[in-house]
Amino acid sequence: MKRVLICYFSGTGNTFKVVNEYVKFFNEHGYDTTLFNMDNKEFNLNILEYDLFGIAYPIHAFNAPSNILKFAKSLDKLPKKTKKSYFIIKTSGEPLKLNNISSLKLRSILKKKGYVLTNEYHYCMPYNIIFRHTNNMVYKMWNIASNVIPLDATEIINNKESKLSYVLFGRLLAFIFRIEHWGGRFNGKHYKVNDTCLKCGKCIKNCPTNNITIENNEFKFNKNCLMCMRCSFNCPVDAIKIGLFNKWKVNGSYDFNSYDENEVQTHQKYCKKSYQKYFARNQKRIDEIKTNKNI
Ligand SMILES: Cc1cc2nc3c(=O)[nH]c(=O)nc-3n(C[C@H](O)[C@H](O)[C@H](O)COP(=O)(O)O)c2cc1C
Repeated sequence: MKRVLICYFSGTGNTFKVVNEYVKFFNEHGYDTTLFNMDNKEFNLNILEYDLFGIAYPIHAFNAPSNILKFAKSLDKLPKKTKKSYFIIKTSGEPLKLNNISSLKLRSILKKKGYVLTNEYHYCMPYNIIFRHTNNMVYKMWNIASNVIPLDATEIINNKESKLSYVLFGRLLAFIFRIEHWGGRFNGKHYKVNDTCLKCGKCIKNCPTNNITIENNEFKFNKNCLMCMRCSFNCPVDAIKIGLFNKWKVNGSYDFNSYDENEVQTHQKYCKKSYQKYFARNQKRIDEIKTNKNI
């Protein structure tokens, strides 16, 4: 049986939701899929034992989160003359082309180690920071992503390469935006918990870097914050203030399956053209396949 390994990070579940669709597809097509969650510190799998290898992450400030780069750096260089192909799956809140540059640093780290990128896919998923997407928008996003993922995964198993294009000066821009890695750590120390807190400990338990502790009955946010939003997004009583970015906080999981004709639209003008293009381009792909299959 052929084997797939997907190493992923997901702050608030979007990337995990996408990865799960891949797992479903691979399993249905006779592959045995292993998931490695980067929350776990010890990576002791042999990538060369897998037929397919992928990395998945949410885009943070037009980059991969710092734990993804750390993971890539931690991988051993492949033996001389050995090459291993891999695919990238990423999610982000808006479909701007600028988001494509998020993989440039990851690619360059992995290239030096003998890894060759063959396929790269990006899915628009609801924001976990900035503002809350409407239910209708989320419904549309998931409708597109869940229908396109089988097409993308088919390319991977058929060895059909597919890569994204990058904007001019992408490397430089990604370098500048990587200030978020440092900024996140700085801002993370300024998270606060207000007195509605239930002390349920969910944030402490789930933080991927064990950055939250309690000292003298007070919450302490330490210096290893990834700004992944898992703590504040999932807080049952919305008690966590996320430092300088508190106005951008999004709290509470999304419902991906409800469409409401009468829902009040918000942020209608925000990246409007970009979303329209993303939906149209992917819908066209879905329709073409359906027509070809005569469904
Ligand atoms: C710190 C931070 C920075 C982000 N930066 C971007 C960005 O540059 N572009 C974008 O479209 N979305 C951005 N997002 C939104 C996430 O990429 C998006 O919501 C993603 O699907 C979250 O995935 P997850 O639930 O797996 O963590 C950012 C989110 C966070 C928390």
